[in-house]
Amino acid sequence: MSNQRRPLIAGNWKMNGLASAASELKELVAHAEKHAAPKCDILICPPATLLREMAAVAGNSAVEIGGQVCHANESGAHTGDISAEMLKDAGASYCIVGHSERRADHNETNAVVKAKAEAAHRGGLIAIVCVGETLAEREADKTLDVISDQVKNSLPEGATAANTVIAYEPVWAIGTGKTPTPDDVAVVHAHIRKELDALMNDSDQVRVLYGGSVKGSNAEELMAVENVDGALVGGASLKAADFWPIVATSI
Ligand code: 13P
Repeated sequence: MSNQRRPLIAGNWKMNGLASAASELKELVAHAEKHAAPKCDILICPPATLLREMAAVAGNSAVEIGGQVCHANESGAHTGDISAEMLKDAGASYCIVGHSERRADHNETNAVVKAKAEAAHRGGLIAIVCVGETLAEREADKTLDVISDQVKNSLPEGATAANTVIAYEPVWAIGTGKTPTPDDVAVVHAHIRKELDALMNDSDQVRVLYGGSVKGSNAEELMAVENVDGALVGGASLKAADFWPIVATSI
């Protein structure tokens, strides 16, 4: 991990969590508050129903709150959708875009993801743009081509290290307990950084997270991989007792 990039340890709660989940965030905040000067950023992306309440629980602590997706428009006749401006208004400072579950379940193409990342920037949010290959693509030796295509076509023009984070999440590693080897992660992260170099002036400052079955027992090894600047964690972010050991690798 390069010294100048501040790690980001992010939790994506997906479609999990009722009001009672506030106790997990409280526990996480209590852990974070023991560190006067944390060396990493900490983020929880709860379902939208909990966002405002979670932002109030996080308060001025080191734990920030984010959305899991946004609509490309600021407002309008889009039943069920939520804009980046609304997420910001509810207390978010980040928004995940292009998660593979959105790409698969809601047919979000690179063009859609790009528009959403642009919307996140417009709304004053840091966009966490997700990329990752399927198992079939990996087995067909297409991983780097898929990643190149996603990075080149999902990032809007105004993307900078200050408003954009990349998350590499191999689809086959999400929720499966399987992870790529550290060497495989290093190859993809180096490739992403090379692509970013061609697209952005401050590419060396952009944080590139790894996601997919990160847990307390493998976080240290994965976070030590060159060009890995943090984690995007699903299942193991739901309980503070599981998430804190992952944060602790970087704090
Ligand atoms: P898991 O950590 O549950 O594999 O999920 C990863 C993920 O999709 C985070 O966005």
